Amino acid sequence: MTRSDAAALVRAWVASESLRRHLVSVECVMEAAARRAGLPETGEDSVEAWRCVGLLHDLDYEKHPTPEEHPFVCVELLKSRGAPASWTEAILGHATYSGVPRASLLAKTLFAIDELTGFMTAVALVRPSRKIADVEVSSVKKKLKSKGFAAGVNREDIALGLRELNVEADAHYAFVLQALKDGAARWEGAPELE
Ligand SMILES: [Fe+2]
Repeated sequence: MTRSDAAALVRAWVASESLRRHLVSVECVMEAAARRAGLPETGEDSVEAWRCVGLLHDLDYEKHPTPEEHPFVCVELLKSRGAPASWTEAILGHATYSGVPRASLLAKTLFAIDELTGFMTAVALVRPSRKIADVEVSSVKKKLKSKGFAAGVNREDIALGLRELNVEADAHYAFVLQALKDGAARWEGAPELE
């Protein structure tokens, strides 16, 4: 499965602009993380693979949002399309209730950036400009401490992601934020899904 196949699936399965934006923003961060890890451009564990996993991790969320179905419907679909087990394991692992351990760097990275990416985009939306360019790490940290802000984002999961990836919070926040800023043209307006 290529990035273009993954984008076609998102176009077919996801109508919501905000979910499309979330998927492409997670893709941008996964791409940056894969490059930082020195992965090859293509192959089962590659920059393209990590982009696809980012793009596809919530593919079924709009049609099947319950914990009984999400992300299991997506995983079955991807298996039927021949996606590697490493991809489906990472997607199962991002849902803590699946019970699937996050063993690979791919799975740990997806879990450690997913909620955080959603949180940072929520912080951007309360800036006057509504742009990620105007978000700083300090404001992300302040908002994380404010329980009423984006209450749906589980702070415990963010902390768990940091521990599993074995990264320092400030450095991780800065990395994710920079990747979102670098990729803003691809997700902040009309999400790039061609
Ligand atoms: Fe997500």
